[in-house]
Amino acid sequence: MADTYDLVIIGGGPGGYNCAIRAAQLGLKAALIEKRDTLGGTCLNVGCIPSKALLHASELFATAKTDFAGMGIKVGRVELDLDQMMAQKTDAVNGLTQGVAYLMKKNKIDHIQGTGSISAPGQVTVTAQDGTQQTLSTPNIVIATGSEPTTLPGIEIDEERIVTNSGALSLGAVPKKLVLIGAGVIGLEMGCVWSRLGAEVTVVEYLDRILPGADAEIARDAQRIFRKQGLNFRLATKVTGVDKLKTKLKLHLEPAAGGDADSLDADVVIVAVGRRPFTQGLGLDVIGGTTDKRGVIQTVNGPFGVAEGVWAIGDCIAGPMLAHKAEDDGAAVAELIAGKAGHVDWNLVPSVVYTQPEIAWVGQTEDQLKANGVTYKKGKFPFQANSRARTNHQTDGFVKILADAETDRILGAHLMGVGVGEMIGELCVAMEFGAASEDIARTSHAHPTLSEAIRQAAMGVEGWTMQM
Ligand code: FAD
Ligand code: NAI
Repeated sequence: MADTYDLVIIGGGPGGYNCAIRAAQLGLKAALIEKRDTLGGTCLNVGCIPSKALLHASELFATAKTDFAGMGIKVGRVELDLDQMMAQKTDAVNGLTQGVAYLMKKNKIDHIQGTGSISAPGQVTVTAQDGTQQTLSTPNIVIATGSEPTTLPGIEIDEERIVTNSGALSLGAVPKKLVLIGAGVIGLEMGCVWSRLGAEVTVVEYLDRILPGADAEIARDAQRIFRKQGLNFRLATKVTGVDKLKTKLKLHLEPAAGGDADSLDADVVIVAVGRRPFTQGLGLDVIGGTTDKRGVIQTVNGPFGVAEGVWAIGDCIAGPMLAHKAEDDGAAVAELIAGKAGHVDWNLVPSVVYTQPEIAWVGQTEDQLKANGVTYKKGKFPFQANSRARTNHQTDGFVKILADAETDRILGAHLMGVGVGEMIGELCVAMEFGAASEDIARTSHAHPTLSEAIRQAAMGVEGWTMQM
């Protein structure tokens, strides 16, 4: 195996492997170092993919139990086979991680298994699991080491009873009482999975609202819907400790603003209070690289440049911690290394929460626009008034489009409803092209489709929604 490369990428997640593929397409020789046994990073191994596999299967289970009868479908007793549900999740993960390994071969990228660290400017040393080392030379080091779960002081993770996202995706049985700490994306997605499978779920959140990154109106409505689905919420509450008793866990709670202490019993606790960049043992100091207090790698030369010939992408730098953002960063850095104009607009990276209904957004929220003093107009359309949603008996949620009051340029789009994770792409394309709300309002949308709600909301910006 050659030990000199045009670029050496440390970390084989969506940031790293997509950077390698784009570099190979541009004629560069790339090495991809990954310490895990499989490629795909957090996303494929313990994140996006296994969580979506469980979300999909648990949703079918819940639908069969609660909605089939009303649709005129009679089935026998619907029973859970958790082992099989986990097996299909593992199948999806294995198929996709092997797919990434195939893409490396196809693109003639050297996949080197081991832990990479920067040993000198232009040099990366890889230590394999058996301790053997090899050093690679390159004018371009790309750091794509991703992130790890944040923990809380006084709470000891054992990945069996007190777990992070990894344990949460592999519980051996449905817990009777499950507590999630954090009402962010993982808290809600995992809360929904285990609640659908029969757990009594409580979500404890420090803030007085769920989903801090989402539009406040959607977050309020979503909480009401999740409450109806069986999730309990303890907002504005902090967990000060968890006692591991023989038969149960005892969480100690306090109001976030101070006040009387309280407690809550659980069989399993999932800690989902955010993620922090992973840069341990990377040798950042060797090239004069620094991180902020949260561990985010600081870039000094554009959004990705850490030092001369050193780049960083994905979860370990600023911007949303999302797989498609890491992928875009990776492609942009490969293009910059190849002398092209790589660029990513992090403001137009969509977010999707894969609950039922889904929540999706892109651009700015109303709160952000107000804080920035931007005057905007808004159009809103409920799925209750959309014919396809009515036909499907899935009428929760709405579409909200925010546009500049003067220019009509779309500044933000916030959706909640079945399938909105697929629908948000239309708004991303529109916003990338600097579209006005009128552009969407005057574009034909097939009938009857859920996406007509987007058009009706866009019409609402100028006050001519027709179907409500
Ligand atoms: P990672 O995917 O974390 O990959 C980094 C890789 O680097 C890892 O494999 C790690 O082993 C390796 N590594 C680290 N240090 C070294 C080293 N020194 N040497 C060698 N290898 C090293 N995002 C979405 O967009 N959609 C979702 O639905 C979604 N769901 C999620 C669900 C969960 C439960 C979690 C935890 C995350 C989810 N995410 C989702 C976030 C997404 O997984 C991350 O944003 C994405 O994986 C970041 O990609 P990355 O390449 O920057 O880092
Ligand atoms: P998050 O940032 O989405 O949510 C963390 C929540 O925990 C916040 O609501 C925060 O206020 C709360 N919190 C923080 N400290 C707390 C404390 N001490 N007590 C109680 N609550 C506390 O982080 P999460 O859910 O851990 O997910 C991490 C990241 O992974 C996400 O930000 C996202 O980038 C990514 N992800 C994306 C998914 C998707 O795209 N569908 C799915 C899952 C994760």
